[in-house]
Amino acid sequence: MRVVSGIQTTGNLHLGNYLGAIRQWVAMQDTQEKNGGECLFFLADLHALTSNVTPQELANSTIEMAATLLAAGIDDRAILFNQSRVPAHSELCWILQGTARMGWLNRMTQWKDKAGKNREGASVGLFTYPVLQAADILVYRATHVPVGEDQKQHLELARDVATKFNTDFGVDLFPLPEPLISKAAPRIMSLRDGGAKMSKSDPSDMSRINLIDDDDTIAAKIRKSKSDADLLPDSFDALAGRPEAKNLVTIYAALAEREPQAVIEEFAGQGFGAFKPALADLAVSVLAPVRDRLKRLLDDRSAVGAQLARGAERAQALAAPTLKAAQQAVGLQV
Ligand code: TYM
Repeated sequence: MRVVSGIQTTGNLHLGNYLGAIRQWVAMQDTQEKNGGECLFFLADLHALTSNVTPQELANSTIEMAATLLAAGIDDRAILFNQSRVPAHSELCWILQGTARMGWLNRMTQWKDKAGKNREGASVGLFTYPVLQAADILVYRATHVPVGEDQKQHLELARDVATKFNTDFGVDLFPLPEPLISKAAPRIMSLRDGGAKMSKSDPSDMSRINLIDDDDTIAAKIRKSKSDADLLPDSFDALAGRPEAKNLVTIYAALAEREPQAVIEEFAGQGFGAFKPALADLAVSVLAPVRDRLKRLLDDRSAVGAQLARGAERAQALAAPTLKAAQQAVGLQV
């Protein structure tokens, strides 16, 4: 079993990333320790180039996100690095650009959302983004990829690329990577709009809880989050049609590591005036220790940078044989 996943280095890590992906990453380290195999987690700084990030923001965000991952519990059992330090990702990406089809990329919902109506003006990088993501995964011959639900389509594309490459070149090089999607928090929604996912790119900071937020900010964001005037029912299924209420109960259950049905039974018959303060207390109790560790790590950014450099060396060593095999399969003289 080889586990690989990444996070784009723009803005701050938020509760959606934490509950949807990072907590799974931390848990995978234990599983891997028992079962053997490697966990590779990386900061997708090359992917960040496809967004409107300034050089300074990109440099800061890479270190800050790495520190956040360490604060959340990623440790030396995993290989933590930034993508751009391992050139094999970009090299395999170029080879896989010959395998991926325009039609596949045209169907990607993230491309459609981000390019909007101005496709002619969108960058080529935004279009080929999922091919780099496929290379990130395939260059390690990953078997499992822990991600939130929004990445499912990109994972399917990686599987299509792997299958076509293996078939076209008559090799058995790339295993088909399985997405591991969190059951508790596949898709955490915005605190301002139950129809939109919690996202780094939402212009409203009130829409998300950042892992760097202080206790008062966390509590204020939950207090002001969109909800409704109805009481909570005694069944989680009865929240269908109440997206904001469902999201807040889902967040509670994920933070408490309890079943949503057990949470709803506890609060049945109560309104959000009672539920929100309980959620705020819970969120603070889970997130404050992560934030405190993060602040200490940010006091020594160069140590975080050094840790990423060490991780990159380990990652490059694992990527090199696959890259070489892919180069040879297509006939490159390497
Ligand atoms: P990114 O940076 O948008 O998100 C990082 C991880 O957090 C998950 N996530 C969420 N989960 C639940 N609810 C949410 N609201 C939410 N928002 C984000 C994402 O699903 C993801 O698992 N393209 C990727 C980064 C990437 C990658 C890869 C991932 C690059 N190469 C290779 C896996 C394998 C991205 O932008 O994730």
